Amino acid sequence: MLLSDLHSACFEEDERWNEDAFSGLFATPGIMAWVIVVGEDPAGLLMLRQSADEAEILTLGVHPRYRRKNLAAQLLVAGCAALRARDVTTLFLEVSVRNDAAKALYLKHGFILCGRRKAYYPDGSDASVLSYDLTSVTR
Ligand SMILES: CC(C)(COP(=O)(O)OP(=O)(O)OC[C@H]1O[C@@H](n2cnc3c(N)ncnc32)[C@H](O)[C@@H]1OP(=O)(O)O)[C@@H](O)C(=O)NCCC(=O)NCCS
Repeated sequence: MLLSDLHSACFEEDERWNEDAFSGLFATPGIMAWVIVVGEDPAGLLMLRQSADEAEILTLGVHPRYRRKNLAAQLLVAGCAALRARDVTTLFLEVSVRNDAAKALYLKHGFILCGRRKAYYPDGSDASVLSYDLTSVTR
């Protein structure tokens, strides 16, 4: 499956989602997903879940070969535009406090820190909870 193969290329072994995980998510309400393609290569993915006027980022990853080419930023812009069109006001996500690349990406996009979940990840690391106000900016 394209999404699980791409996810496996983007994430470490203990964070990978298999085909069943994706199928299970697509069977639940409010799921939206994008794949960004370079040439003919699936290069990155973004998956969101909307619930009323809030949404969360379920996963965002870019294949190592295509990193630092603004692909994740483009996926975020596309996702935010789709959420605004559905009158969603706030986008949330959890990111490991150890994930400097992702934290830098989200802070640059305009997310702000709004909480912390202790020992949230299998490796014992905490998660930062970030939020993004979709009503105040147009990115
Ligand atoms: C985090 C991730 C999605 C970023 O994807 P990307 O396509 O390389 O990011 P972009 O090129 O769009 O980066 C946009 C900005 O984010 C920041 N950024 C991205 N990667 C960074 C890194 N490794 N170090 C520091 N800043 C980084 C920079 O500000 C960058 O702008 P710049 O390149 O002009 O300096 C990618 O590294 C990835 O897939 N990591 C593994 C999976 C993961 O951790 N996903 C996030 C889970 S919450």
